[in-house]
Amino acid sequence: MPLKPTADLIAAARAGRHALAAFNVITLEHAEAITAAAETAQAPVILQISENAVKFHHGRLAPIARASAAVAETAGVDVALHLDHVEDPDLLRQAADHGFGSVMFDGSHLDYAANVRATREAADWAHAHGLWIEAELGKVGGKDGEPPLSAHAPGARTDPDEAREFVAATGVDALAVAVGSSHAMTDRSAVLDHELIARLGEAVGVPLVLHGSSGVPDGELARAVAGGLVKVNIGTALNIAFTGAVRAYLEQAPADAVDPRKYLVSARENMVKTAAHFISVLG
Ligand code: G3H
Ligand code: ZN
Repeated sequence: MPLKPTADLIAAARAGRHALAAFNVITLEHAEAITAAAETAQAPVILQISENAVKFHHGRLAPIARASAAVAETAGVDVALHLDHVEDPDLLRQAADHGFGSVMFDGSHLDYAANVRATREAADWAHAHGLWIEAELGKVGGKDGEPPLSAHAPGARTDPDEAREFVAATGVDALAVAVGSSHAMTDRSAVLDHELIARLGEAVGVPLVLHGSSGVPDGELARAVAGGLVKVNIGTALNIAFTGAVRAYLEQAPADAVDPRKYLVSARENMVKTAAHFISVLG
């Protein structure tokens, strides 16, 4: 099946009052595992490639984007391709050439006025090229190995009035919000501010996106979806599954066991289970 526009999958999720899982792709095995999990669940899914993943691939977007798109096109469910956490305008402008249906422009490291300016420019470009665009206001901590932000740190919670103004000023299609989750958590102990999620939903009128969802317990995720979260980004949980399986294999393997397929197959199977679990939690 051809890639689906992200906008269509988000609209359907919103209408059905459930959320769409967006999983980070780093390797080909990630894309295969996510797609297999979505097929088992007969659920649509987003494959997303972050700017950091592109840096890992020597700064080249095309190889991992085309591989992900090719996996998606052979899937028996609807799959969209999303370019995630983009700060580099040059990378943003490559999205239109590689099958992406959407981008997230991340200006959350900028001050409010600069974030508005840069996001407005990104949104104008994205819309001129038929792409759905997400932006971030407030700071979801834990990016690039930084520790999680304390709940009282500036920006650790998105302000609803500022969010309303930001969405109106930038024209973005969805907003990533800081509501208690943090990137790269390896335990699932985040506590979300559900009252704030409800206020943000009422304030902005566009779908809300949860980042750092690996660290959010199932019950919290389900409650956040019931409260209006529409796109749920998951990355680290797949890496925990991948690395755990590789470690388990290598710890017991003899020194002459050198075929990577022997452990990548377990890594991929473990990621399928993890992705399937998150998809089931999101309904
Ligand atoms: O944009 C990607 C997500 O926010 C992933 O966060 O790795 O903590 O699940 P995570
Ligand atoms: Zn994120």
